[in-house]
Amino acid sequence: MHRKRLVVLASGSGTNLQALLDAPDLGGDIVAVLSDRIGARALDRARGRGIAAEAVELGTDRTAWESALCGRVTAHAPDMVILAGFMRVLSGDFVQRWPVLNVHPSLLPAFPGAHAVDEALDWGVKVAGVTVHYVDELVDHGPIIAQEAVTVRDDDTSATLHARMQQVEHRLLPQVVRALCEGRVQRNGRHVRIQQ
Ligand code: GAR
Repeated sequence: MHRKRLVVLASGSGTNLQALLDAPDLGGDIVAVLSDRIGARALDRARGRGIAAEAVELGTDRTAWESALCGRVTAHAPDMVILAGFMRVLSGDFVQRWPVLNVHPSLLPAFPGAHAVDEALDWGVKVAGVTVHYVDELVDHGPIIAQEAVTVRDDDTSATLHARMQQVEHRLLPQVVRALCEGRVQRNGRHVRIQQ
């Protein structure tokens, strides 16, 4: 079977990218890492592994930026695009070209957006969590592939809660990517099933 070509988009530190790079049996190859930030540590992690890494920075023209990013992704001919801490919203036109996945630090549909961990703490939830989902044209809205709960502790800060969520992310995201690469994910509208 053809090994899947994976392009990862990341804006920041790239610990989720690292989890994908370190996964023993991903079933696919990360062929490029692209970022909206030149200084993103994720780019260094990719270069450290000899993987093509490039920033496409957002200037004043959002349409031009997305079109440039889309061109760079297309150049790597991916089977799948993975948003691993990519903090920009992509248009419907972009996300319909390939299956696009995202990892988000909440139990969606609670707390979509860029401040999910703080908002969950501010709300006083007792159970937070992590979602891996397909990306559609709306923010943090596409069909859910996998979710896992994380219990909130009375003394949690945003940093301590996020750190426990990231431990879950680093396990859940590679599991989902592997299932997709192995053709074990069935999608029927919003309903997604993973065969074990
Ligand atoms: C991750 O925790 C991810 O859930 C979050 O950004 C972090 C990136 O960490 N994503 C979002 O909040 C998306 N709305 P990383 O760069 O170390 O992988």
